[in-house]
Amino acid sequence: MANSPTGDSATDRLVRILDTFTPTRTVQTATEIGRRSGLPSSTAHRIVTELVEAGLLERDEDRRVRIGMRLWELATRSSHALRLRQAAMPFMERVQSRVREHTQLAILEQDEALFLERLSSPDSGANITRVAGRLPLHASSSGLVLLAFGDVDLQERVLSSPLAPLTRATLSDPAAVRRKLAEVRAIGHAIAPGYIEEVSTGIAVPVRDETSRVVAALSVVLPRDAETDFAVVELHRAAQDIARSLGFRH
Ligand code: PHB
Repeated sequence: MANSPTGDSATDRLVRILDTFTPTRTVQTATEIGRRSGLPSSTAHRIVTELVEAGLLERDEDRRVRIGMRLWELATRSSHALRLRQAAMPFMERVQSRVREHTQLAILEQDEALFLERLSSPDSGANITRVAGRLPLHASSSGLVLLAFGDVDLQERVLSSPLAPLTRATLSDPAAVRRKLAEVRAIGHAIAPGYIEEVSTGIAVPVRDETSRVVAALSVVLPRDAETDFAVVELHRAAQDIARSLGFRH
């Protein structure tokens, strides 16, 4: 695509505009988008207008801008995330109805855990995961599963970058994370008591596809001191059923 005087392509500029939207910043003025994207204001305004015309962004009555339904539609159609979510849903519902706590499905995306789905009931406790939100790999049960069963390059990249301590319990020392990953591989699941927020314990198991490759993590979030055994059993059973529904035969 055509390059601007500053050398970035039309695609770069588009991505910079879309990247100003985050899980907690879903509505912005065109001026805010311009400032946050780092693009010249007139360029940002023009691209926002074009994206609104194409339906990829939408404006509300106050002319504030959000991600458009057309973009949601195109993205949700996407290939493997949708297939995985559809295969997982019935078994996530079973986990949620039996464990009666938050149940979520995450995949590895750009060195973070990206959440595809979350089921909760009104009386479930604290939980910071959001659908289409991300958590750090070293500090969440899902992340630890994805890291433990991920490739060595991923592990080395994550372990050699700063491991932010989010609570007093977060493992922020690379050696401690390495030991935890070995434990996760040995016992087949991750338990993360208070790693990301003091009041909760995350428990996650790997989800394998038809080739036996780990493609996701299935997790529940319990109150910090809750009994974990029942949830672990239910999660393993669900992960096996999901793999079977994706075509895994054994
Ligand atoms: C976890 O997966 O470890 C986790 C996720 C969200 C929370 C707490 C724990 O709120």
